[in-house]
Amino acid sequence: MRAIVTGPAHHIGGTVQVPGDKSVSHRALILAALAQGESTVRGLAPGADVRSTAHCLRQLGVHIQITGDVAVVRGVGLQGLQTPTDALDCGNSGSTLRMLMGVLAGAGVTATLVGDASLTARPMERVARPLRAMGATVTTTDGHAPVTVQGRARTPICWQSEPPSAQVKTALLLAGLFLPGQTWVQEAFLTRDHTERMLPTFGVAMLHAPGRVGVQGPAKLLATEVLVPGDFSSAAFLLALGAICPGPPLTIQGVGLNESRTGFLDALAQLDVVVDIIPDLRSQGEPMGALRVTRPDRLTGAAFSVDVIGRAVDEVPVLSALCGQALGQSTVRGAAELRVKESDRLAQMALGLEAMGATVVQWPDGLDIGVVGQTLELHGATVDSAHDHRIAMAFAIAGLAAHGQTVIEDAQWADISFPGFWRLLNTLTDGAVRLDV
Ligand code: S3P
Repeated sequence: MRAIVTGPAHHIGGTVQVPGDKSVSHRALILAALAQGESTVRGLAPGADVRSTAHCLRQLGVHIQITGDVAVVRGVGLQGLQTPTDALDCGNSGSTLRMLMGVLAGAGVTATLVGDASLTARPMERVARPLRAMGATVTTTDGHAPVTVQGRARTPICWQSEPPSAQVKTALLLAGLFLPGQTWVQEAFLTRDHTERMLPTFGVAMLHAPGRVGVQGPAKLLATEVLVPGDFSSAAFLLALGAICPGPPLTIQGVGLNESRTGFLDALAQLDVVVDIIPDLRSQGEPMGALRVTRPDRLTGAAFSVDVIGRAVDEVPVLSALCGQALGQSTVRGAAELRVKESDRLAQMALGLEAMGATVVQWPDGLDIGVVGQTLELHGATVDSAHDHRIAMAFAIAGLAAHGQTVIEDAQWADISFPGFWRLLNTLTDGAVRLDV
């Protein structure tokens, strides 16, 4: 399926919502599965990645009923997981595969985890190594999936996660829930801390020390209710729409505003985009709010700090699309991890933005976008999603400001995190974005 974007476009404004947060949804399903009793998760992310987690947990014997955005999970407790009869298919989802490695190792359940071509290209030793140090037997395929976990982890560890990764941290904390003793994860900077925030909701006290976080096992998780906020990473595309296209105010409601995720708001401020935040008092563990974005007369290029990029890892593609339209040069650094996401996101953005007329220089850990003192006029081009949801959606934003028609091949990959994205964009842009099925 291709998306066709005709620019330059305007937007109609209004108040919209984004689907539930993908990261929080994975964790809610996994913790609810390991708890005793029936948990309810409201606002569950509808995308394919979270369905992969639900599917794998069902293969492990957990009953999960999903109706709309509500999941009811009948937890089996830490000792209740069953050995699956088939490989666990994690689809495109790195979070599913890495987090479940920790669960299997802790529970002592033998299983093989597989994924699609993109997931199979991603590094898995970063999780396998510490789990082996805990005593589990973990076999990767040249460092990648398929990954087989067998033999229970028995020794709690203190692990320096390198590179810092919330998925690795979560896998180790999950394994640590099963083991007697303290399991700690140390990080050079704080990665998203949804797991640490959610475990206390399930009755597990967290251990905190400067630069590290831990759990005391064996733990006991008790069923609870989880409210999943709207996904900031999905809201980022709508903030970018409001920043780049003329139109009345655009407000996105109920968005998760965990500080470890909102580096993109700092980046927008540097580009001269004003975003007003209206806090939402329903927040439970995770801060939430409405975001109202105002388009500036023009975007001004900026040098983004490693701290900002570290809190905006998943937003670098859409940020790059904005920088392609800004006055002057923008620099992104500290983003080497982008090369091993669902695609090499630095290379894909460079390729597509260059096809649209931007000047882009690639670095091992970032990009220079634009030319000092100049605003380049982007033009439409045919670009590829590279089977990567965030690349597909980032090019929609680039195309809306470019002159002429941008064709995004394999646009259906947006469904991984944001089903309904193309329909919503079609409405918000008065038809400037359409799918060519
Ligand atoms: C995620 C962590 C990040 C992020 C990914 C989701 C999570 O990856 O890019 O989309 O839910 O923990 P890393 O753990 O590789 O940094």
